[in-house]
Amino acid sequence: MDRKLDNLLYSLMQSMTVAVSGEKLARELGVSHSTLIHRVNRLRDHGVEIRGELFTGFRLERLPDVLLPQLIRPRLRTSILGKNIYHFYEVNSTNDFARRLLGHGTGAPEGTLVLAERQTAGRGRMGRNWFSESGSGLYFSVVLKPRVPAQYVPLLTLGAAVAVHDAVERCAGVDVDIKWPNDLLVGKRKVCGILAEMQAEVDNVQTLIMGVGLNVNHQAMPDELADRATSLRLATGRRHSRIEILVESLEELEKLLERFHKEGPSAITEPWSRSSSFTEGRSIEVRDGFRSILGVTRGLHPSGALRVEQADGSIEEVYSGDVIRWS
Ligand code: BTN
Repeated sequence: MDRKLDNLLYSLMQSMTVAVSGEKLARELGVSHSTLIHRVNRLRDHGVEIRGELFTGFRLERLPDVLLPQLIRPRLRTSILGKNIYHFYEVNSTNDFARRLLGHGTGAPEGTLVLAERQTAGRGRMGRNWFSESGSGLYFSVVLKPRVPAQYVPLLTLGAAVAVHDAVERCAGVDVDIKWPNDLLVGKRKVCGILAEMQAEVDNVQTLIMGVGLNVNHQAMPDELADRATSLRLATGRRHSRIEILVESLEELEKLLERFHKEGPSAITEPWSRSSSFTEGRSIEVRDGFRSILGVTRGLHPSGALRVEQADGSIEEVYSGDVIRWS
């Protein structure tokens, strides 16, 4: 259904200054007048400002900030990521939709990108929710088929963090930190999280769904998140182009994955370590689901595990978890 709304919106964008007659639009899209009106109203419900009616013609009030595949494709200089795009105005979770695609007969080719303007059940790590306000953030999932053993998956998620980190710094002109393993922070507040979910055999990852949530143009965060989370707009006082950041992130991720396949883990651990203040010398407390580890960070293991020096001088390698306190 969303592809049909995308096509209508794209047609309206082709003639921003003059109203397009309802007759012409309906003909172009091959639909009846009532279907056209229904679709116009659905776009309006999603916040797209459209003036007019069937007989006067329709015109966009202003250029909408929508992640239209028709606008993304011509800008994307990747060979795999984003070659196949699904765009939703509303979906439960882009990760869940990607997983459903993989379960279907037609499947989802490597690089399939699922994008949503809004998620009704966006999921975060450790069973948390991901706040997914309409049109403000980037909520997307990329289907990867990395053909590597499962132990490399954490490293690939660090790679995704590096890719989005570089894209955000370049596009938004703001300093971004990476909190191990893959949260992006501006100042001390989180702007981006990554949820990677895989289907694997013991020695081969079949598919990895890399879900990215980035707070871009939110003008306020909900009260319960405001002390821990922010958006690029709140941090810089300006709006930012979601399409530009998305395109850069996918290009960076593709390059990084290519380098990883050629050069091995250092292709990811090195840029991660350069981009994160958590690499070395930070006092942290990290929870890994079973226990709490307190100590000082001592770099990344090639697997992506964080090395933490504890009070007795021993080094603990932490493979997964959440840094809950740091200084
Ligand atoms: C985290 O807890 O830090 C991870 C958040 C991941 C959120 C993204 S939004 C797009 C994709 N779909 C989801 O349901 N979650 C991820």
